[in-house]
Amino acid sequence: MPCIEWTEKFELGISQLDEHHRHLVDILNNIYDCYQDENHETVLENVLEELLKYTQYHFSAEEQLMQDTNYPARREHTMEHDMFTRQIAQFEQDLFDGKGLLALEMIQFLGTWLLRHIIDVDKKFGIYLAAREASCPHQ
Ligand SMILES: [Fe+2]
Repeated sequence: MPCIEWTEKFELGISQLDEHHRHLVDILNNIYDCYQDENHETVLENVLEELLKYTQYHFSAEEQLMQDTNYPARREHTMEHDMFTRQIAQFEQDLFDGKGLLALEMIQFLGTWLLRHIIDVDKKFGIYLAAREASCPHQ
């Protein structure tokens, strides 16, 4: 998957999370750009590390919000986050170990996973928050 273009269908309507997601998409696009450069592996490791760090930061903010708002599906949602975080760490390790040949598949996996997670799993949380806000505007 080459560069991801941000579109409205990725928007949750929660400005903090939308901003985080946009930044994640930017990092993924950087990863793809680095992949296309010659001698990309060291740089790829750096941007993967950036993706891992930012993903952890973003997931913990989202999980905190799920907890603060008593989101009923937060456990399953958090399990998806954990799986993704472990997968990035594994890719990073593979690159470090010199098994970086699958880099394009790796980038495709990360992009596909993230967009599916936003459209499917995060959107449900966005809908929950909007409904909650509508019924109890001061919570
Ligand atoms: Fe999420």
